[in-house]
Amino acid sequence: MGIVEVMNVTKKFPSSNGEVVAVDNISFKVKKGRVFGILGPNGAGKTTTLRMIATIYRPDSGRILVDGIDVIENPNQVRKRIAYMTQEPDLSPALSVRDYIIYYFRFRGLSKREARQRCDYALKTFNLKEHAYKKPFQLSTGLKRRIQLACVLLSNTPLVFLDEPTAGIDPKSKRETWKLIEEMVKEKGMTVLLTSHDLYEVEYLADEVLIINRGRIVAQGAPSELKERFGKTLRVVTRNPIGDFERLKRTLMELEDVKGVNPISANSFEVQLSSLDNPLNEVLQATISQELEVIEIFATTLNFEDVYLNIIDVGGEVDGETQ
Ligand SMILES: Nc1ncnc2c1ncn2[C@@H]1O[C@H](COP(=O)(O)OP(=O)(O)O)[C@@H](O)[C@H]1O
Ligand SMILES: [Mg+2]
Repeated sequence: MGIVEVMNVTKKFPSSNGEVVAVDNISFKVKKGRVFGILGPNGAGKTTTLRMIATIYRPDSGRILVDGIDVIENPNQVRKRIAYMTQEPDLSPALSVRDYIIYYFRFRGLSKREARQRCDYALKTFNLKEHAYKKPFQLSTGLKRRIQLACVLLSNTPLVFLDEPTAGIDPKSKRETWKLIEEMVKEKGMTVLLTSHDLYEVEYLADEVLIINRGRIVAQGAPSELKERFGKTLRVVTRNPIGDFERLKRTLMELEDVKGVNPISANSFEVQLSSLDNPLNEVLQATISQELEVIEIFATTLNFEDVYLNIIDVGGEVDGETQ
């Protein structure tokens, strides 16, 4: 049993031209103690999915269990188990960093004394001491995000939701954030649901990834598995220039295991494969049939970002909506 189980869940919103299906009949399970990444372009349904699990939105249909508890039947029990770092910083403008963190831990049920102690620990562990008496308007986005992160990671809830935790943060702070998340997960063994646009971030942190597009699941697996499954390519270099690339592409696309063909230079191209069960020979033959002399052919694995883009592409063109 997973700590989160999402079963055939759909969520629609009214929109100017009828309705938008934000989440379209998705099902997945998250295992305890894992970092589970949800990836997808803007408007894919990531935040809506997190909000339904966190009982902020109610699913139109389907069922969600958190730690075996139904989110509709028992929302309060579910909320106790989740600390949610929202996509937008949600600090109170009037409160100093220290007061906000204490307030947050009080809201999570700690006594005044416990909240103060944990706040001191948070300021130290998350390198926020020198900012303790600042107000949000005096803080960079990176610092605001780090405060939110400290709050959720130190809530001692079994589940932590991080909705684009490093969006808009500089690369160095990003790395520091990854380290903090990694350490906390190791130390406390909590389960993390993470959404992100940063493929390196997801590859670094997540044990398992769900890729969604237009509210539907398009792929699921460990980043390494997805690379293995969707990231196999052949590079082909020819002695003579390719000339009619479109004709070459049409010929290659007829082969069963070929998913895509991209030009690289005047005399080289890349073939995306759905498997490596020996299509090399077929690709070679098909290329030669175009009166091209092959001087080099080798298999490569794409990086995770390219793999992701390939997977998303298959699901149709990407449209940017909210956020
Ligand atoms: N509260 C809402 N009211 C109306 N439409 C919404 C609302 N929340 C999300 N949507 C729509 O649902 C879709 C999915 O949005 P969202 O879950 O925020 O995507 P993501 O987090 O992957 O960028 C988008 O088309 C968005 O416009
Ligand atoms: Mg979102």
